[in-house]
Amino acid sequence: MATEIITIEKKDVKPGMFVQRYGAGTFQDPLVEVGKYIESYDDIAKYLPDDTQKVEIISGRILPSKDYACEKGSLSVEQVARNMAEALPEARRVHEEALNYARKFIEDVRQGKTVAVEEAAPIVGEVIDSLTTNEPAALTLAFLKRYDEYTYTHSINVNLYSLLLGKALGLQREELEMLGIAALFHDVGKGRIPNKVLNKPGKLTDSEYEVMKSHSRKGLEVLKGVEGLDRAVLRGVLEHHERFDGNGYPGGIKGDDIHPFGRIIAISDVYDALTSVRVYKKAVSPAKTLSLMYKWKGTDFDPAYLNRFIRVMGIYPPGTIVQLDDLRFALVLETNETKPRHPKVKVLFNSKMQPVHSECLDLATYKKDGQDVQVMRQPDPQSLGVDMQQLSRFLV
Ligand SMILES: [Fe+2]
Repeated sequence: MATEIITIEKKDVKPGMFVQRYGAGTFQDPLVEVGKYIESYDDIAKYLPDDTQKVEIISGRILPSKDYACEKGSLSVEQVARNMAEALPEARRVHEEALNYARKFIEDVRQGKTVAVEEAAPIVGEVIDSLTTNEPAALTLAFLKRYDEYTYTHSINVNLYSLLLGKALGLQREELEMLGIAALFHDVGKGRIPNKVLNKPGKLTDSEYEVMKSHSRKGLEVLKGVEGLDRAVLRGVLEHHERFDGNGYPGGIKGDDIHPFGRIIAISDVYDALTSVRVYKKAVSPAKTLSLMYKWKGTDFDPAYLNRFIRVMGIYPPGTIVQLDDLRFALVLETNETKPRHPKVKVLFNSKMQPVHSECLDLATYKKDGQDVQVMRQPDPQSLGVDMQQLSRFLV
């Protein structure tokens, strides 16, 4: 994606951005060169004087998350909640835009039309920006899945999770852009599978299963005529059902022979499928899903990639409800990579699900009556009667 200089308000500057200069270019407010990445909220105060209004940043030049990760964990839990609430409207806008695009291209494929792949690049770019600005806000939206929109939400969630893992693995911006496109289109071939097989409520026969499995190759057919699409994107789509031990399809290839995009998308695809409600199954909780996937480490998934995914996603991801071992219910705000049962949370309800005075807790340091408090379980918010669509209400 091309980089360009854009002017934004100082209040919109976030860690991870590359600030070229600030000022209005007038005598009273001359332009001052900065030419640095903003690595933390402290850097904003350090490089941009209090009275700064306009800042020029280079869009598309975002600090890779491994450098930015030091920011995570260093903010107070109140600040984490504030940042998340602040970032949520923009994350929601990007999420809606991606969802609309998914609705459109999936319908286009079903109707045999040409897919507007070129429209995907700016959307993927915005998702990368959204993740870089505030990872928890972007992730929370992935859990607000609508049962009747699985096909579309699955496509954009696989995009989001793949980018999250790609960033954590240190992929550069251009690689992330390609990975995001591959992830968004990973199941595009399903648009060429007959409806009677695709939507069959019961178990597929052996021959129907073979037809279903052909969606990887059909995806390649849909995309290979698209001009300017990198080979890595095509391999990501073709190889997303290959398995690390060679028991996948269509090629039965294994280990490092599977393209990294294929190995990344395989993890995101299964994670989203298991955590979603389908006609034939309930949603599995994120924690249970990761424990299941952990058992398939080395057989289905690349062990190093899966370990990284578990760390960065967190057993209890942001935006999910957990019950603490003091029986209170809380919303996860930020994962704790080294102590997964001790995320930053906001307490919402007492043990009887009555709203309580909300309290932000960093479970890594919080003590109640001198005792450590940690996550005990992850209930289904629906069973608790909590409307997660009202997420932003819980944050303020
Ligand atoms: Fe698939």
